[in-house]
Amino acid sequence: MEKLKVGFIGCGVIFDLNILGYLNREDVEISCLCDRKQRYVKKKIEKFNLGSEVKIYNDYKEMLDIEKIDILEILIPHYLHHEVTLYAAQKDILGISVQKPMATSIKECDSMINACKKNSIKLKVFENFCFYPPIMKAKQLLKEGIIGEVNSIHIKTLEGTKGGWDIPTSSWVWRLDPETCGGGLDCGSMFVFDDGFHKFWLALHLIEAKIEKVYAWIDRYNKLDVPAYIMWKYALPNDLDILVPKYGTMEYNYAPDMILPSPYYPEDEFISITGSKGNMWINQATAGDNIMSKSEAFPPIVIFKDGKIETITDIERDWKYSFINSTHHFIDAVKNDKEPILSGEQGKYTTQFALATLKSSLLGKEICPADIKE
Ligand SMILES: NC(=O)c1ccc[n+]([C@@H]2O[C@H](COP(=O)([O-])OP(=O)(O)OC[C@H]3O[C@@H](n4cnc5c(N)ncnc54)[C@H](O)[C@@H]3O)[C@@H](O)[C@H]2O)c1
Repeated sequence: MEKLKVGFIGCGVIFDLNILGYLNREDVEISCLCDRKQRYVKKKIEKFNLGSEVKIYNDYKEMLDIEKIDILEILIPHYLHHEVTLYAAQKDILGISVQKPMATSIKECDSMINACKKNSIKLKVFENFCFYPPIMKAKQLLKEGIIGEVNSIHIKTLEGTKGGWDIPTSSWVWRLDPETCGGGLDCGSMFVFDDGFHKFWLALHLIEAKIEKVYAWIDRYNKLDVPAYIMWKYALPNDLDILVPKYGTMEYNYAPDMILPSPYYPEDEFISITGSKGNMWINQATAGDNIMSKSEAFPPIVIFKDGKIETITDIERDWKYSFINSTHHFIDAVKNDKEPILSGEQGKYTTQFALATLKSSLLGKEICPADIKE
């Protein structure tokens, strides 16, 4: 079988993790890279030893017009996801993977889904947390009923400022601008809208139900959308035979002086899930494999049920595996004609959930994600 040719648009910070799942595989070939800053492309070719045959572009339209690509990775700021996906969807491409958040409006999500559907292109909204090994294991255990019928989830994101990657200012500038970051606040919503996409998806993925209503307080600290406190009720038919109504909460905490050692961003996640028979804690994601991971206080998964504590420890904790697994999943979906996770529809609903949260914080009232249509 011929190798699948992969092209990348955007060679910024997250390229370093998105590339990993394509390396050392017999079935794919990295054929072209585009970034409007050529020096970034050259740096990545050198850093990942991609070889001199890789074609380099600074205009994505030119690259898509010239190159025959099977899989396209879109790794540029969210406000550009829509226009680039629409242009790419006119080409003879098998799969497009667009980084989260999918787009900045529901209208854009709809047109991206339709354009890809029309040309039989698989559209993946790239989300990696659900492919993080401890979260995959937790999902499997929940499905097996380890804590009974799940009725609540709490997702805490702890934001530090030091201890992680050295991130160029250019990577923050578009996030701090409400126009280019999206979300509708008076500041760029780099936490709730941008990073929050992962957490909104986890809330949908770990408790498999839609959302009836969401309510949020999103404060401002130094023009950032933190701290944020969000709560929602899952939509379940009244006649469904469930034990306890299902709710979720999310918080973004900001610790401006905290050093949070991390191989990537200085941020980390802590999830607590309650079921009819017990409770599960998932400790860490982004900063996994750091000093906390080595301490007995933070095993990747802890379960309390039947009056006993069980810890699950033998799991890969480096966050990079969530990217590698997510990419491998997409290569498999393209090769074997499977639906990717997240599909365009899943990406759209997650965007509705995120935008409903932001709208709730602005209006001070409960919002139903399905009512967000623009
Ligand atoms: N899955 C995750 O955990 C995760 C983490 C970080 C970022 N992301 C997402 O990835 C995307 C990129 O984020 P980033 O942090 O890498 O941003 P970044 O600013 O570091 O990189 C973006 C790159 O796109 C290039 N670019 C911008 N406009 C372009 C254009 N028109 N044509 C070609 N290149 C262009 C820039 O020069 C830059 O190199 C965002 O949507 C972001 O939300 C996801």
